[in-house]
Parts: sequence; structure tokens; C-alpha cells
Amino acid sequence: MRKFLIDTDTASDDAVALCMALREPDIEVLAITVVAGNVPLAQAVQNALYTVELCDADVPVYAGASAPMLRDLVTAEDTHGQDGMGDIGLPLAGRTPTAGWAPERIVELIRSHPREVTLVTIGPLTNLATALLWAPDIATLVERVVIMGGTGAHGPGNVTPSAEFNFWVDPEAVRVVFRSGMPLEVVGWDISVASAVVTPERAAQVRALGSVVGDFALDIQATLASFVEHETRLAGPDFPDPIAMAHAIDPSPASIQRVGVDIAIGPDPMRGALIVDHYGFSELAVNASIVTNYPEPAFFDMLLRLLA
Ligand code: BDR
Ligand code: CA
Repeated sequence: MRKFLIDTDTASDDAVALCMALREPDIEVLAITVVAGNVPLAQAVQNALYTVELCDADVPVYAGASAPMLRDLVTAEDTHGQDGMGDIGLPLAGRTPTAGWAPERIVELIRSHPREVTLVTIGPLTNLATALLWAPDIATLVERVVIMGGTGAHGPGNVTPSAEFNFWVDPEAVRVVFRSGMPLEVVGWDISVASAVVTPERAAQVRALGSVVGDFALDIQATLASFVEHETRLAGPDFPDPIAMAHAIDPSPASIQRVGVDIAIGPDPMRGALIVDHYGFSELAVNASIVTNYPEPAFFDMLLRLLA
């Protein structure tokens, strides 16, 4: 069994990514650690706990950072709903996370399974950066770090013209992670736009599964569907965290480029912009693999299999 550790600001597309990992028979999810981002920490924790329960999984959920390292938290209820899960009336209160603090648990779990853990981050990088500042040794003890963030290969951002939400929320944390020496694999929002848009045809395939988890995966996108219709103008809600999870589960269909990456730290309009040295123009050391393509059919084949 491959060992996964998932760090999430659980909202509507995060929940689908969690379902994928929790339902993949080949994967043991050691823990889910939660960070503030799409919604405040307490709500994200409730959303993660609800999703684990829905999947009938026995996985600890730990709360972590309630705000970025140096900035005020900016949330995204306009994208995911007031409850982060599409405001469809789910009972998202009253569950209790496991005792323990997320950055501390990230360190302990990586240290206790050296070179065995795939860490998948699908929210702002605050928990991971905090863990790294406290325990830099985890950089070389982790097997893989798959990061949903930035807009790495092509295309604009989804929160400013140049920035993607997870990297924009806590850019200082991104810099700590980029300079850590961790084996980074970055899946940007551009890959989601290219290959993870749930068009009406794809939604019909998910509905045709007739599964509780499949219906859940679509129903909780109610707010996101309206956001993409009016803001990003895609042909349906897109799934950035699920396609990052697909790459974590099976990287074989992906096209990958080894590059130097950095993050713009200043104010808007460049705050949180991912800098990718595609052509080796700068002095940036090669410190990451960025996914430049993950084929749409490969993503949806996996999604349909795991939601069935
Ligand atoms: C990222 O930000 C959030 O809206 C999603 O959950 C995803 O992690 C996409 O920019
Ligand atoms: Ca997320």
C-alpha cells in the first residue's frame, strides 16, 4: 500500500479529491491535515470530517493553521459557498477532529515512514511551510510532494490575472516550500482548465454511476458551477484538486518538465504569481517538476472508477 498524507482547505473540489484517495484500494491515507483557505479552518475541518464519514473511512483529521504565515486570511465563499460545499444543506457541524496539530503531525508521519510518504497539498501551503521551518529534515525524508497550485505551464490565474488561489493566499509559505529541497511536483490551475472541466457530458457520466459518492461530488459544486459560468466561463465546474490527486495516484499519463520555480511575494497584481523558468533564462536552480499536461480521458477514467 502506498502511503498518502493529504493537506487540504476542504471545500467542494477538495472533497472530491479526498474521496478519490480514500477509495483507491492501493492507497493508505495516513492522515488528512487541514488548513484555512477556501473557508475558515473550523469549517474546512467539518467538511473534511463529513467527507471521511461519507467514504466510510477510518482516517484521522487534524486541524492546522488558521491563517497564512504573514497575511490576513482571504477566503473563497464566492467560489465554493458559505459552507464551502455548495450550500446544499449538508449537516456540516458537530464532528470532532483528532487531537494533534497538523504541522506537527506532518513532521511526525514523514519521519516515521522515511521515503515512503506521498504528501499531496490541495490548499494554501501554510501547514507544510510551518512544518518545514520547524523540521527541515522532512524535505529529504518525503517520497513525493504533489502540489495543487499556481498556473504553471499555460494560462492566467483564477484570483488575479497572474495568480492561482492557493499560491496567492499564502505566497510566503510557497517560498519556504520552494526553497526547501523537497521533491516537488506542481499541478497548476491551467491543467485543471485544460483537462478537468466537468462538462454536461462528463457530469452525465458521473450521474450514470448511480453512486452516493458520485452524486455528492457533483451536488457540492453548486456554487462553483455558478462561479465558472459567470467568472471563469468554463463549460462546467473544474476540478483542480481532483486532477492533482489523479497525478499523485498515477503520474504515468502526465507530461512533465523539470524547471526552476519561484513565487512573486509582493502586492497585487503580481502577489502569488508562479514564476516558471521554462527556458533556463534565470539563475533559478531546477527545483520542481511541473505538469504540463494530464490527458483529459486519463483523468476522467480514474475519476469515474473511483466514484463508482
Ligand atoms: C484551488 O483553490 C481552491 O479554490 C481549490 O480548492 C483549489 O485547491 C484552485 O485554485
Ligand atoms: Ca483546495
